[in-house]
Amino acid sequence: MSEEFEPLVTHGQLICEVSDLEEAGQGFRFQLATRDIVPFEGLLDEPDELLPAFVILFDGGIYAYLNRCAHIPMEMDWNPGQFFDDDQQHIICSTHNALYLPDSGQCVLGPCPKGSKLIAVPIDVVGQKIYLR
Ligand code: FES
Repeated sequence: MSEEFEPLVTHGQLICEVSDLEEAGQGFRFQLATRDIVPFEGLLDEPDELLPAFVILFDGGIYAYLNRCAHIPMEMDWNPGQFFDDDQQHIICSTHNALYLPDSGQCVLGPCPKGSKLIAVPIDVVGQKIYLR
């Protein structure tokens, strides 16, 4: 599967397989429509706008977030699907190096506003498959 492949996923659809993810390494990028995040986040942008998102595997857990830094709403990966810093303990924003905890999305260092977090995307993991809830 190409690293550039970014499926548009709606509720209940498959995002990817667990085997598409590397522990604290390569994540999987996908897109969702703004209207699909309204139930958990409210309306961020235009209803039909597509938003980038990603899934990562960290310490055996699977986490999904909008690919949208809490500092400035920009995509964060430094290469497509690469979200971790060198020590593989944080998600890092490639623009101004904000650091986030992979399991909560909490910003712990950098220019993101105090107490800010990445926007989590609800998922369901069934066997080896990861679905958008
Ligand atoms: S845009 Fe992410 S740290 Fe500034």
